[in-house]
Amino acid sequence: MMFLHVMMMVSVLSGGSAEVVRDFREKCADIFANGASPTILPGHQYRQICQTLKNKVYFATLYDTDNKIPVYSAYKFNKKIKCDRKHIWCIEPQLDNPGEGPNMVPHHSRKSSNQAVNDDYKKSDFDKGHLIPVYMASSQDCSDATFTLTNAAPQNRNFNRGQWRILEEKIAKELTERCLSKKNTAYIVTGVVPGKHKIKRKVNVPSNFWTAYCCLDHTKECQISRGFIGSDRKITHDNITVNELETRLENLYKVKSFQLFIVISVFFAISLLTLD
Ligand SMILES: *[C@@H]1O[C@H](CO)[C@@H](O)[C@H](O)[C@H]1NC(C)=O
Repeated sequence: MMFLHVMMMVSVLSGGSAEVVRDFREKCADIFANGASPTILPGHQYRQICQTLKNKVYFATLYDTDNKIPVYSAYKFNKKIKCDRKHIWCIEPQLDNPGEGPNMVPHHSRKSSNQAVNDDYKKSDFDKGHLIPVYMASSQDCSDATFTLTNAAPQNRNFNRGQWRILEEKIAKELTERCLSKKNTAYIVTGVVPGKHKIKRKVNVPSNFWTAYCCLDHTKECQISRGFIGSDRKITHDNITVNELETRLENLYKVKSFQLFIVISVFFAISLLTLD
């Protein structure tokens, strides 16, 4: 006689997306590990954006219209190619007028009260620091799509062009060698925590930059995952577990629970063969 007990524990996160949607799941669930986004912070200022260029979604952003910076951007990393940096920054038209089209549009002189614009950064000493980096883009359109102001936050120039860039390169290498090579899927979430200062009394200068990845295998579990968090100037807590990062983010965002990746744990408890 053989007994086979299969116990399946599925823990699904609560909570819930350039196209502004009520719920990321309407248009871009596949950007996220197991179809679920990181925690959506409570509050009316947050908008879910499925970042759309030429009618194709490339990544997703939770945007804070009060602070005029993202909370996080999430991306499915498939491969990277070398792309041109055209530096044509876009805005998300639907943040100001829900009647606008789904695509991000190049920002010229259009005024905007719900999001940061190029002028806000001018003469500010800060870079428009990309959350989803150009470096990990899988096509030129994908690279162009990262140049949207809702995917950027004021970042110290030396940090952006120094340690943070090096970290992005290390993560891309790590995921290429240890995840993509095994035909697994790599999910990346990068975010910021609002700080005490604003530029032009409008755009918040984040106190922290953080990023995390999860490499999902066919069992829907994170086979490898890491988290990284730094102050606005340097990586202070390099390389921690995703759990540790979540705990730190709960404190920083002042929320009870902050989850980065949906965890589907499947425990197969197989009671061994019992022979009569
Ligand atoms: C982070 O730490 C892990 C485990 O110690 C290591 O395998 C990995 O290469 C490190 N990654 C980075 C980007 O430093």
